[in-house]
Amino acid sequence: MNFDEELEKRKNLVEEILERYLPKAEGEQRMVLDAMRYAVSAGGKRLRPILMAESAALFAGADEVWQTDCAAVPKPPTVAALPVFMAAIEFIHTYSLIHDDLPALDNDDYRRGRKTTHVVYGEDIAVIAGDGLLNYAYETAFRAFSKAVTIEDYQRVECAMNLLGRRAGVYGMVGGQCADLLAEKQETPPTKETLLYIHKNKTAALIQAAMTIGAVLSGADEKAVEQLTTCAENIGVAFQIQDDILDVTSSLEVLGKPTGSDEKNNKLTYVTMHGLEESKRQVRELSEEAVEILRSFPQKNGFLETLVERLIYREK
Ligand code: IPE
Ligand code: IPE
Ligand code: MG
Ligand code: MG
Ligand code: MG
Repeated sequence: MNFDEELEKRKNLVEEILERYLPKAEGEQRMVLDAMRYAVSAGGKRLRPILMAESAALFAGADEVWQTDCAAVPKPPTVAALPVFMAAIEFIHTYSLIHDDLPALDNDDYRRGRKTTHVVYGEDIAVIAGDGLLNYAYETAFRAFSKAVTIEDYQRVECAMNLLGRRAGVYGMVGGQCADLLAEKQETPPTKETLLYIHKNKTAALIQAAMTIGAVLSGADEKAVEQLTTCAENIGVAFQIQDDILDVTSSLEVLGKPTGSDEKNNKLTYVTMHGLEESKRQVRELSEEAVEILRSFPQKNGFLETLVERLIYREK
């Protein structure tokens, strides 16, 4: 199988997992559930769940991680908790997109090739659909404790929960969004350091959560988790720089979201601060550093290495 087929297969498995954990749109709360489903099921690259599973595969092996036979107990047993965390991180990511697109934030009308949630359901329902997804992410992730057998397993799940909460919150993604929004309104443009803080937090933090949770659940030791934290930071910052690039070089048709959003919002990005060529160079450099870290592990995951390399030239 070639890389693209492998990627497609993984993406389809993530879709199945999301469908398994996404609540049905029924009952009195049907409207908010419907909006949650609308945002999640629109597709998207599913990068974070895939990175989580592939980071786990680095330590537990791809067969163990992507196995669909729920009856078999993998080694370590916490590998079986990957699907709930994969769903949880995609729910959190999707909520962040719903809120990011709101008129009060970036005010964008398209996402994942569709009208944004607030355009279809109204701002009020979009806000609570985001709330619903954020909360449901933790409701889903908590199920992981049922997979623990030994004390060590419980500690791994606890560690994974902490990583998810921390990186998604004010010391991670939410903190990054705050700095991003404040920077738009300031008279003086942010410094390089502030811009790096923004990218590290609004985007790299969730990618760090994804990769380190995968590692922790598959039994990686502390040193390996630390190395993956750095690796994921590089991937995440590169990913956001590429997002900044695509905002000026791509199109709505290709991206599935509007281009020119950053300029419209007076947002300082890597492209406005460093220029297009230098930004592209940094994406390459950071990604190559990330691949170097992956190659330094005694275990190998060729798919993950190729995925990170492919992200350098991604067009959407
Ligand atoms: C968009 O993330 C927001 C950023 C952090 C740049 P993705 O580019 O991963 O969006 P989807 O999930 O594929 O729609
Ligand atoms: C947002 O960055 C990252 C989030 C935490 C949602 P952007 O505002 O650049 O993301 P897009 O371009 O709207 O996807
Ligand atoms: Mg934004
Ligand atoms: Mg945005
Ligand atoms: Mg953007």
